[in-house]
Amino acid sequence: MAAETRSDVSGKDTPLLEIVFQEIEKSPEGSMSFSDYVELALYHEKYGYYASPAERIVGKKGDFFTSVSVGEMFGFLLAERIAAEWSDRLDPGRPLVVVEQGAHDGQLAADITSALAANSDVENTNVVYRIIEPRRGTREFLKNRFRESEIPVEVVRSPDEAKAEQGVFLCNELLDAFSFDRMILSTGEWKELRVTLHDGNLAWTSAPAREEQKNLLPRSTTELPENYVTEICPALFPWMTGVSQLFEKGLWWIIDYGYESDDYFAPGRKSGTLRCYRKHEATEDPFSFPGETDITAHVNFTHLQQAATGNGLEWRNFTDQHHFLIHAAKAWLLSLEGRPADDRAAKRLRQFQTLTHPGLMGQQFKVAEMTRGL
Ligand SMILES: C[S@@+](CC[C@H](N)C(=O)[O-])C[C@H]1O[C@@H](n2cnc3c(N)ncnc32)[C@H](O)[C@@H]1O
Repeated sequence: MAAETRSDVSGKDTPLLEIVFQEIEKSPEGSMSFSDYVELALYHEKYGYYASPAERIVGKKGDFFTSVSVGEMFGFLLAERIAAEWSDRLDPGRPLVVVEQGAHDGQLAADITSALAANSDVENTNVVYRIIEPRRGTREFLKNRFRESEIPVEVVRSPDEAKAEQGVFLCNELLDAFSFDRMILSTGEWKELRVTLHDGNLAWTSAPAREEQKNLLPRSTTELPENYVTEICPALFPWMTGVSQLFEKGLWWIIDYGYESDDYFAPGRKSGTLRCYRKHEATEDPFSFPGETDITAHVNFTHLQQAATGNGLEWRNFTDQHHFLIHAAKAWLLSLEGRPADDRAAKRLRQFQTLTHPGLMGQQFKVAEMTRGL
């Protein structure tokens, strides 16, 4: 293995950096996989980027915006769709469980449950909202936040504990936050980019790709340029196996930014989709400020489809956020007709525009809809 490029981390060290150094020094290969590095940088219990949900990392005062941080409208529209699906495609006479994973500080859960509680078509006593959260600290935080929620909010550890007869599963920007491998095409062969030490700094090194990694990469590489870099997320597959078993009858909505394989592995996308965010600045350097920087990659929706159908779900619809939310907003838009717009309605309309405008969040975000038993 040879060090290929280096990242200057001087002045950009954090408590987590020492932990990464120790991990690399004690590893027999003298390097760690990039996915292990991302796992530490994002999810180390004490120093990981997502260690504390109370810290403001999403929104104006944080590092990046999500549809949730735009305002209450995203949750309101999802609640409109949940209510409509419950009455039209699910069994309205039976209880409904809404399951969310990647809830972070619970803002989307708060927006959805408030909107469901205010919806006269929804019988509150028949709905439960369940959040899947594997980390104890975040679970405690969420349990506390929803102690007095009008619609009961339960916080559980795993998909197994969230199972229900019928329900809707949703996640917003969960998959882009999974750890992932970084791969490089070198003299016609796929290699894995790993993290090593070089002159006291973190640096890239490479090792031959494993068979299971190659299975997620384009077989034909003739169109791709030398040193083409891309990402794969093997963690997607076991995750889908878990959440696909949630309901006997239900819908799954996965909302995130990403592409299908043809686009994901397009020859022009030669440095992949890795992005790092800190204080609303985007870089491609994951080695600066580890633990204080968000590290993310786009979702490969073809892999998601393979994982879903392989676990018995039907791949029903793949669209962008614009189309998904416009459909959800029909009744609300009609209700505005002929009514003078008050401050709240004007604010909601502005949020709606940010969420659906193709030049803002409408086209960048995609929605994959899967079903079982419908
Ligand atoms: C990019 S943030 C999105 C937060 C929120 N959904 C939003 O849209 O504003 C990703 C979130 O997913 C959480 N996450 C990552 N892996 C998870 C897992 N296996 N289970 C539950 N949450 C997870 C992270 O802790 C983080 O809070």
